[in-house]
Amino acid sequence: MSDIESLLKETRSFKPDPAFSKQANWNKKTVAEFRKAGAQNSPRFWAKQAKDNLTWFTPWKKVLDWKPPFAKWFVGGKLNVSYNCLDRHVEGPGAHRRNKAAIIWEGEPGDTRVITYAELHREVCKFANVLKSQGVKKGERVVLYMPMIPELAIAMLACTRIGAPHSIVFGGFSADALRDRIDDAGAKMVITADGGFRKGAGFPLKKAVDDALSMTDIVEKVIVVERTKQDVTMKAGRDVWWHDLMEDASPKCAPAKLDSEHPLFILYTSGSTGKPKGILHTTGGYLTHVTTTFKAIFDIKDEDVYWCTADIGWITGHSYVVYGPLANGATTMMYEGVPVHPGPDRWWSLIAKWGVNIFYTAPTAIRTFIRLGDEHPNAHDLSSLRLLGTVGEPINPEAWMWYHKVIGKKRCPIVDTWWQTETGGIMITSLPGAVATKPGSATLAFPGIDAEIYDDDGEVAKPPNGGLLVVRKPWPGMLRGIWGDPKRYKEQYWSQYKDTYFAGDGAHRDKQGYFWIMGRIDDVMNISGHRIGTMEVESALVSHHDVAEAAVVGRPDDITGTAIVAFVSPVGGTDASDKFKDTLRAHVSKEIGAIARPAEIRFTDALPKTRSGKIMRRLLRDVAAGKESSGDTSTLEDFSVLAKLRESDED
Ligand code: WT7
Repeated sequence: MSDIESLLKETRSFKPDPAFSKQANWNKKTVAEFRKAGAQNSPRFWAKQAKDNLTWFTPWKKVLDWKPPFAKWFVGGKLNVSYNCLDRHVEGPGAHRRNKAAIIWEGEPGDTRVITYAELHREVCKFANVLKSQGVKKGERVVLYMPMIPELAIAMLACTRIGAPHSIVFGGFSADALRDRIDDAGAKMVITADGGFRKGAGFPLKKAVDDALSMTDIVEKVIVVERTKQDVTMKAGRDVWWHDLMEDASPKCAPAKLDSEHPLFILYTSGSTGKPKGILHTTGGYLTHVTTTFKAIFDIKDEDVYWCTADIGWITGHSYVVYGPLANGATTMMYEGVPVHPGPDRWWSLIAKWGVNIFYTAPTAIRTFIRLGDEHPNAHDLSSLRLLGTVGEPINPEAWMWYHKVIGKKRCPIVDTWWQTETGGIMITSLPGAVATKPGSATLAFPGIDAEIYDDDGEVAKPPNGGLLVVRKPWPGMLRGIWGDPKRYKEQYWSQYKDTYFAGDGAHRDKQGYFWIMGRIDDVMNISGHRIGTMEVESALVSHHDVAEAAVVGRPDDITGTAIVAFVSPVGGTDASDKFKDTLRAHVSKEIGAIARPAEIRFTDALPKTRSGKIMRRLLRDVAAGKESSGDTSTLEDFSVLAKLRESDED
């Protein structure tokens, strides 16, 4: 791993503003105390957070049961996620939040809804009763395939109320990808909408559900929200309208008292094989992790409007649009559409319109806005902002500085948060009242999180040498497994180093111990902050009958971080034309979804392979990036292949 080295020579540093520190939920003193407590005895530290930040029906008997690599947190404790996110803000000591906005929502066409805690509580109870009346029982999985509308949050919370784990499939995934996830999770019910608004038009969701269900018969019921009013076919006996079911539903539903380790949700993510993994999260540990990190990192106050721009279909949306904010009684904003519709200033106009105080987004979006020009943010009053965050990929220092100056007006601290679908919540991050930031660094591990960098031998890498990012102790929000595949869970995350979590990222630490994340070291690409496995795209390509072989690599891209490049060798006699490229792009969209569509396709007669037949991705990566190959090519089977690849046309 010697090539992951101190590549960045960033020396700028920004100290926390004393005025911010003074009012921070976690000031320097708290953080120093918690760091010490977390390092000395992390279960005890997390137990304090679980007690202070959540309401439990029954206290736990044991904080942590750790039989590597299987962890159980707050063993014997009972709680309910929807109770923590809703009931305790409408009754008892938190009742002052009854009529506070829980969700501020804006649709892409400009329609708006502000939902108070009392209303959200009522809607969630009603929908929980609907789920029961439609036959969903505790432990049964429900797939949600929905646009960014309040009903998605309502459906999630209703699932948690009765203990039915949800599995959300991002609305941009195709019918085929949806079918795979429904089958893998063994879901009896799908909740969807007719469609959602994107770039000014309604995109179909129900149609994709129909296509997916034509390939599987395990789903018994489909509940459909009316959003776009586009034409849909309702299958008698199977499909029902949300509004019809809600009409007579009772607004009273007691929360199920669930075991701390009861499955909360499954979320599929890409790995280094073709098949996506169902990451399993459970109740008590996950909620402790996201509630605590949200309060500390985003410094939430009752009067704040908080906006995380992620789609709920990704982990960021689960943890920091819905569960973290609502468990803290915060006002969380949701926006349905694309950032630049109807104009390049939509996001900035939303910040001004709703008076957003805390804003959390992805570097890829920041880079897009840099390119669109400063006049768009400058045209709006962004003075309500007091804290900014980033997530999903490393942020280049230039983009960080732009965010700091043009959006934050040099007033707002920036929290760069490193974490993963698997970690459940934020792991490495700045704390706005306590930690000095450096552009491009996620700074330090959160208290109670033991992150480190190892070399190949499992020794702590010595700065400035880089290595592999690991977590040495279990943490409450950690994944509990891969749905239905304990073997893969062990191999993927726990086989590189003994009893140590392997994250799959390369990183290094500077002299002050700050983490600099360099990106994935496996065959996973990070496209606009979303993970796509190279193997997944390859399997999609070779499933086309005119493709003999395909290899997929990422190449650096100014906006999306990484762009997908596919090397394809067509079946003999196929016309390697631009039209065929379009066909293949459409094919990948159909198999996986538009996010996996290759930016570039290059045709080739053969792929560079080792004598043992392994595709030499390293070489292809160099070719894709237009670099001369630096690496060793002595095992290359056929040298002429590489030369031909270089000559091959680009788009
Ligand atoms: C991968 C996880 C959980 C957030 C959304 C992505 C990369 C995430 C950062 C950051 C550098 C980051 C890593 C990680 N990543 N945040 N602040 N700095 N890299 O979730 O799809 O599970 O992807 O995103 O490579 O392994 P995900």
